[in-house]
Amino acid sequence: MANTKIHRTRSTKYTQAHLNLCSKTSKLTKCPKCEMTYSTFTTYDTLTHRKYHDLHLKGKKWNSNWGKIVWTSAKSNERIVMIRPSNNAEVKATLEIMDIVNEELNAPHDENYFWSDEKKLDGKAFLYIKNDRAVGVVIIEGLQRQNEARGRWMIYDTREIVPNVFPEFVYGISRIWVCKNQRLNGIAFKLLELSRENLIYGRVIDKHLIAWSQPTDDGGKLASRFNSVTHKSGKLLLPCYI
Ligand SMILES: CC(C)(COP(=O)(O)OP(=O)(O)OC[C@H]1O[C@@H](n2cnc3c(N)ncnc32)[C@H](O)[C@@H]1OP(=O)(O)O)[C@@H](O)C(=O)NCCC(=O)NCCS
Ligand SMILES: [Zn+2]
Repeated sequence: MANTKIHRTRSTKYTQAHLNLCSKTSKLTKCPKCEMTYSTFTTYDTLTHRKYHDLHLKGKKWNSNWGKIVWTSAKSNERIVMIRPSNNAEVKATLEIMDIVNEELNAPHDENYFWSDEKKLDGKAFLYIKNDRAVGVVIIEGLQRQNEARGRWMIYDTREIVPNVFPEFVYGISRIWVCKNQRLNGIAFKLLELSRENLIYGRVIDKHLIAWSQPTDDGGKLASRFNSVTHKSGKLLLPCYI
């Protein structure tokens, strides 16, 4: 889900000076690659864009000690790690990635406690590391903490929710993201497979017990490959939750 970003954090003083002095140079530019809108006139904007741009396209540089390794590729320098909430450095690095993810998804920025706060744990974060950069992330949350019927079926073609049916799912994919340059390489699928093997020790979670939170277009395509079901009407249904 692409969206336009405009800086809200620039100081009023700076903005005013800049608007009064040179309306021509104050024009905003939209980066065609990361889709951020920013002003090339301010150093702050330029630096912020560079940081966002790099992370969005190439992922975040990752320290080799961060995260517990749950899978390593036999061929290449690739692995999947699980974030340990007791390790501040790896939590902080993941939160930085989540800022970019939530910006892109237009999603709330305050839904990290269930994988990062030791007192409120009910989920896990997994990251895909490739050539020493975190290039993908999936955040999984438990769905059974509140006694609410959160499960729904979404019709893939029309994105309509099937009325009056409340399926029960055990885990929810709160966020899933892969940096732009690494998409369509099977990274998201691998993250989903490895997370269902590592949510509970010694058990692999059936993929049909996992639901999606408001899938984007890309997310819907991934969901249709991962765990959609075909209804007797012939329609493809995605497991979702609210
Ligand atoms: C959705 C997203 C995580 C997919 O990541 P990815 O690493 O490119 O996905 P994968 O390569 O593992 O794809 C797995 C399968 O889904 C399909 N798929 C995934 N994204 C697709 C897309 N945009 N178009 C067509 N098919 C797609 C792949 O073709 C593949 O199927 P295959 O095994 O038959 O080839 C990535 O596009 C992304 O980060 N998008 C922005 C954030 C977002 O929308 N997140 C989803 C929130 S619900
Ligand atoms: Zn950019």
